[in-house]
Amino acid sequence: MFILGLQGSPRKKGNTHDILSMFMEQARQYGAVTQTITPHTLDIKPCRELIVCEKKGFCPIKDDMEKSIYKLVKNADIIVIAAPVFFYNVPAQLKALIDRCQMFWGRKYKLKLEDPNAKNRQGVLLSCGASGFMSKLSCWAKPPDRKMKIHDFAVGTVSLSAA
Ligand SMILES: Cc1cc2nc3c(=O)[nH]c(=O)nc-3n(C[C@H](O)[C@H](O)[C@H](O)COP(=O)(O)O)c2cc1C
Repeated sequence: MFILGLQGSPRKKGNTHDILSMFMEQARQYGAVTQTITPHTLDIKPCRELIVCEKKGFCPIKDDMEKSIYKLVKNADIIVIAAPVFFYNVPAQLKALIDRCQMFWGRKYKLKLEDPNAKNRQGVLLSCGASGFMSKLSCWAKPPDRKMKIHDFAVGTVSLSAA
């Protein structure tokens, strides 16, 4: 099983890094092969809605999406998005990666192309933020138009104090 982690915080050793590292370490102990990428260290240009993906099935923008990330996403059995809440969303660098995955939407819904791994692929969201639990919960899970099926929602509380 291949697990792809997207470490969405621009901070190298912040909370997001720590929770994703713990998750991946546990996954490796269960036999998974893991790889973590950090969007803020990569060349990921924003989506320009060129619509090429909807007509031809690929994104014409030349950067790390094309070089490696699309392939990693396609090969992943589980994709773990680890992201702090930034103004009720994910940080911009990770958002650029997510937007560029419009390519997969275009291939599936416009071109009706098969992605053999898609049916089994699972998603996990790990998140942290500075404000209260309800705000984080509503940010990720509450909007009624959210199309994602939530199978499980585990909430952990970590108490931190300044050294
Ligand atoms: C630009 C910016 C926007 C933020 N917006 C929110 C927010 O809307 N809600 C929230 O709970 N925390 C917000 N935070 C706090 C971060 O989510 C919090 O500090 C988090 O622990 C950062 O993760 P990290 O330690 O992995 O870098 C924001 C922080 C920044 C820098």
